[in-house]
Amino acid sequence: MESLYKQDLAYIQAAAFGGLAQGAAPEIVRLLKSATIQIRKVVDAGCGAGPLTAALVEAGFEVTGIDSSAELLAIARAAAPRAHFVNASIYDAEIPDCEAIVALGEPLTYHTEGADADSLVQSFFQRVSDILPAGGMLIFDVIELGEPSLAGRFWSSGEEWAVLVDTWEDQDSQTLVRSIETFRRVDHLYRRGSEIHRVRLFDTGILCSQLAACGFATETAQSYGMQRLGPRRRAFFSTRMRQA
Ligand SMILES: C[S@@+](CC[C@H](N)C(=O)[O-])C[C@H]1O[C@@H](n2cnc3c(N)ncnc32)[C@H](O)[C@@H]1O
Repeated sequence: MESLYKQDLAYIQAAAFGGLAQGAAPEIVRLLKSATIQIRKVVDAGCGAGPLTAALVEAGFEVTGIDSSAELLAIARAAAPRAHFVNASIYDAEIPDCEAIVALGEPLTYHTEGADADSLVQSFFQRVSDILPAGGMLIFDVIELGEPSLAGRFWSSGEEWAVLVDTWEDQDSQTLVRSIETFRRVDHLYRRGSEIHRVRLFDTGILCSQLAACGFATETAQSYGMQRLGPRRRAFFSTRMRQA
């Protein structure tokens, strides 16, 4: 997978976009602690700068964070020094033994141009199902197909950085593309960078059927407890059922 969240976007993601994971963490911890089996080991897939990883470690879980961005993982290592980290794509990485896997902030949606996103996600569900014991949990969120349009221009800035995002989507090819420009102050100058993020749009009913075929019972919601998700975002709470 091409490298996303390189140096400056990683810095900006950590500085300003950890809010979803921080807001969701209390509900994720509550769900993991009230599962029907004892959950000790958790994989934070697409852990980014580690805001959820840190909260899970703090709550007493043994956590492995997996992320394809080496720059984000360097930040996550500092945020959660007691976690273990793997720099790889979740589609290639060996998933360690665990009782729960979480993937917050849409890590399952990122795909390279021309990739068979549906097959990758489906085979990820199967691998997770093979690893989790009965009662184990898979929690993740995606962007759904449908309305309202997410196309538009967005910017955000902080003391030493700015990010400009142009988003467009094509529902026929189930793809949303973000063209991202970053500016970050280095000494007395601003360094400019750019990234293109290609994101798969999903049908919730189809994902639930695929999860059922892999042995999961699934509920969905538009929030993690008190933490509301953005428009067209959906969270999946899947529990591995006992094998027949
Ligand atoms: C929006 S960020 C969310 C980060 C973190 N989970 C959070 O909530 O703060 C999406 C993350 O998914 C990671 N990611 C995307 N595709 C990935 C893949 N195939 N394997 C591993 N990480 C991936 C990105 O590098 C990025 O850290």
